[in-house]
Amino acid sequence: MAATDMTEQTPAIDGRQFRNVLGQFCTGITVITALDPEGEPIGFACQSFAALSLDPPLVLFCPTKGSRSWAAIEAAGKFCVNVLAEEQQPTCARFGSREADKFAGVPWHTSELGVPVLDDSLATIECTVDSVVDGGDHYIVIGRVRSLAESAGTNGRPLLFYRGQYTGIEPDKTTPAPWRADLDHFLTTTSLDTWL
Ligand SMILES: Cc1cc2nc3c(=O)[nH]c(=O)nc-3n(C[C@H](O)[C@H](O)[C@H](O)COP(=O)(O)O)c2cc1C
Repeated sequence: MAATDMTEQTPAIDGRQFRNVLGQFCTGITVITALDPEGEPIGFACQSFAALSLDPPLVLFCPTKGSRSWAAIEAAGKFCVNVLAEEQQPTCARFGSREADKFAGVPWHTSELGVPVLDDSLATIECTVDSVVDGGDHYIVIGRVRSLAESAGTNGRPLLFYRGQYTGIEPDKTTPAPWRADLDHFLTTTSLDTWL
């Protein structure tokens, strides 16, 4: 059967169910940053990030087609993926919103490549835009890795996103913790801008 026929016959998927089911897939969170044409830093919280290829070194992320940040990243042709640490939850909330100045109070610097790097991140991956693929109401952006680093002597723990809420990993699986079975202990609510 041709791919187009399959698309036409796909049964309607309920949006709430889609969000609930896909929310069972726990991910880390990144903030994707760039400099806009005026040289001002822009960025957005992004869950849809993945490593893609080692040779050549490629990564991908998926911005919604209406994202103002994506328009600026596309114009710049380069970006930085900042992998967030648990302590950066407020940073995530800020970059997941449509606030005017998302960088206020967030320590950052411009890298040699010319992309904003958030100083407290667990890891940073600097890329140039390699290609852009259509993905329904999103784009799939493939970036070629130009430089990458992890925070020095990192014992950091990642900020996670699960079932529409922020969470984290257990400090040490071998240490008894009475609340370990209580997942709700980990989950913290997100804002109105909650993604998915
Ligand atoms: C945890 C989290 C993950 C998100 N992941 C994505 C994503 O993968 N793609 C996307 O387009 N938006 C994602 N968003 C929503 C954007 O961050 C938000 O809509 C964006 O900041 C809007 O601002 P902009 O127009 O400046 O891009 C996410 C938000 C949060 C809080």
